[in-house]
Amino acid sequence: MGASSHASAARAWVEIDLPAIDRNVGRIKQALPPHVRYVAVVKANAYGHGMPEVATRLLQAGVDCFAVANVAEAANLREVGHDADILLLSPTLPSELPRALALDLDITLNSLEEAQALAAAVAKSGLKAKVHVKVDTGMGRAGVWHEQAAELFAFVQAAGFEWRGVFTHFSDADSDAAYTTNQRAIFLKLLERIPAAVRSGLMIHADNSAGLESFSASAPFNAVRVGLMQYGLPPSSGSFLASLRPEPVLSFHARVVLVKDLPAGTAVSYNRTKTLSRPTRVAIVAVGYGDGVPTAASNRGFFLVRGQRCPILGRVTMDQTIVDITDVPSVAVGDIATILGAQRADRITVAEFCAWADCIPWEALCTLTQRVQRVYRTDRT
Ligand SMILES: Cc1ncc(COP(=O)(O)O)c(C=O)c1O
Repeated sequence: MGASSHASAARAWVEIDLPAIDRNVGRIKQALPPHVRYVAVVKANAYGHGMPEVATRLLQAGVDCFAVANVAEAANLREVGHDADILLLSPTLPSELPRALALDLDITLNSLEEAQALAAAVAKSGLKAKVHVKVDTGMGRAGVWHEQAAELFAFVQAAGFEWRGVFTHFSDADSDAAYTTNQRAIFLKLLERIPAAVRSGLMIHADNSAGLESFSASAPFNAVRVGLMQYGLPPSSGSFLASLRPEPVLSFHARVVLVKDLPAGTAVSYNRTKTLSRPTRVAIVAVGYGDGVPTAASNRGFFLVRGQRCPILGRVTMDQTIVDITDVPSVAVGDIATILGAQRADRITVAEFCAWADCIPWEALCTLTQRVQRVYRTDRT
């Protein structure tokens, strides 16, 4: 796929290939037993892809429900008309509980205190609470520590909440299978503390994208929470997940706004971290860290211009990045520079971008800023 003509007026934009979402969801669903519910993770503006459009497409592609980080994100989904179940993945502040109840959200309980605050909010509002209990089996972040989980289980049953699910989260599923197996084992053992009659009605989930690698249909797990994979990025290469061939959904482009020749010896950009060793033709590209190109990519990364790799010269600035186009004939103002994605025969992958930018794939996507226009391709390719 070449860079898009859809965004002819934009200076910097990401192109979102919505049909690629259909294909990715289809492949993930096919790899899972049919009874397993697909919770689509759309927090952080659907990993930078744009929540309303992507959520709508995910539903059309067959996901069962959504997960977001917080009440404000869930409210955005409700505002655009989604009445599907929405799971809040992070702890909810007492002050946010009334709104969470009013929006009919699935609230994740991470502590006894949070459950008590919810009981108080329910008593005050007269609304019904739908809850999942999150257990910390070795992530050290959200969730009730597993050794204290039984107490929370008992409270939830007694409180009369609608208990809908129980889950844990893996910390190292993309790199440490043994640690993940141990987290699973702790979680499975703990499930025995829930009466069978209650347990049989719960959504039981642990797996994020990387967890799918070791997902076992024989275990009681009946839901998965998928983020990265549905956006087309396997958590690790060479794995079963990579063999599903997820297709990147997002590509990132910007315009060349100035072309000029600089003499050898010129120092380029802030703090003069690069001095030109030869007479150099440079292109100034209308994209910088204000858009989502981190300064870590300075003097390390490349943009594709006219299908060729052009090295970033000097420091990435807020609004502009300078690239070397000496070896690329006839680059002109208005040309498209591709920061992520394909141009002609070449492609800059998220993995490559992350190596230059010293970040992880989730971060590369989520740090694309509001200023970058989102352009949605809806055609089937
Ligand atoms: C609790 C929880 N579940 C699931 C996910 C989805 O993870 P991934 O994007 O690796 O699929 C996340 C992502 O951060 C998460 O925090």
